[in-house]
Amino acid sequence: MTAYSSSSSSLGSTLILCLIITSLITPSTSNYLSQMCIKSKSPRFCLQVFGLNPHRRPYELTREAINLAFTNASQTKTKIHAFLDQTNDDNLKTIYNLCLDYYQSAIDVLTHAEEYYLKEGQYSNVHAIGKLVQIASFYCENGFQTIPGYAYASTLSKDNDNLENFGSIIVSAVNLLFNSP
Ligand SMILES: *[C@@H]1O[C@H](CO)[C@@H](O)[C@H](O)[C@H]1NC(C)=O
Repeated sequence: MTAYSSSSSSLGSTLILCLIITSLITPSTSNYLSQMCIKSKSPRFCLQVFGLNPHRRPYELTREAINLAFTNASQTKTKIHAFLDQTNDDNLKTIYNLCLDYYQSAIDVLTHAEEYYLKEGQYSNVHAIGKLVQIASFYCENGFQTIPGYAYASTLSKDNDNLENFGSIIVSAVNLLFNSP
């Protein structure tokens, strides 16, 4: 009876040990998505956009973040062109042209991010691109306040917010990549 209970309790502790080891290993391989999103500007936006499949490595997540930022910035660029065509206000035209420049520079760096930097393991350049994208969105948004004597309500707040979010996701994804490619 004693022998039986001792062997069963040692089987029990072996099982528990296995469970502990498993739970220690699993998060580091499957929770990169949540680690990336938690460190981004808006975890909620991030989780909504990236969906719930956590089985992506930091490299894959960074690649996706770059592609999504690129697509989004390009769509916004098209939208700004349309706004530009629709307005007769010279101040707004100035602001939209300024925003087009910033969006174009974000698109330019994102275009080469994967091929030139991510694939080559130049992660600090990818990190810098994430920052640049955020700065572009900030300056476009700021453009609406720069006309002296006028206060323009930004018509691009949501878009600038989206771009800033994508930029911050690139930064947090590449930060994971520095540690575990
Ligand atoms: C950019 O992405 C966000 C999040 O997926 C989306 O809500 C928004 O409509 C996109 N912007 C454009 C201009 O398509």
